Amino acid sequence: MTADGDTKKRRAAQAALALVTDDSIIGIGTGSTVNLFIDALARLPHRPRCAVSSSEASSARLAAAGIEVRDLNEVGELGLYVDGADEATAARHLVKGGGGALTREKIVAAAARRFVCIVDDTKLVKTLGRFPLPIEVIPMARMLVVRALSARGGRPLWREGFVTDNGNHILDVHGLTIADPVALERELNQITGVVTVGLFAARPADVLIVGTAEGVETR
Ligand code: 5RP
Repeated sequence: MTADGDTKKRRAAQAALALVTDDSIIGIGTGSTVNLFIDALARLPHRPRCAVSSSEASSARLAAAGIEVRDLNEVGELGLYVDGADEATAARHLVKGGGGALTREKIVAAAARRFVCIVDDTKLVKTLGRFPLPIEVIPMARMLVVRALSARGGRPLWREGFVTDNGNHILDVHGLTIADPVALERELNQITGVVTVGLFAARPADVLIVGTAEGVETR
């Protein structure tokens, strides 16, 4: 029998538990893989008492699991941040934001000494860009940013009806082949009206845990 997507995600989530220490405040990402991680965390006998969350959805799940959600401003640097991704390369560069939580995810990742990314093997790519690149924008600047992205050869589509936890809009940019993720992240960050680019390359993951049909691989 072959492992389905959920089994692979669960394997990656379970493997990340080994990196958790009960005395630290942990950073928590967003998405279905992270939900499996939160559920596994809740079952640990010595689970962390506190966490910093990257979304309202993860905050609600953490609270339901009895893990207190703290404000990042009150806790300072985090030892560990665990999050999923929509695409990942061997260099641990990521595309994130499929769930629309990219801005807070990038903030919590920046505050963490160690960023552990948990994915199933369908997320692995040689070159980023197959998954449309999410970009969070200030609502009044949406069309300004659309024009700037189109001029760079992308096909931005407005994620209509979706509002981020920060009250902003998301553009999903199709048609990009991202040969140099660090340079593109830097360049797109300069467009006026862009809040956050879903490229996590300047600050890549430190560890990539991949759930596969056979088990897990750590990179
Ligand atoms: C949310 C994200 C998620 O990490 C990404 O979309 C992966 O989600 P999933 O674990 O459900 O596949 O970036 O903004």
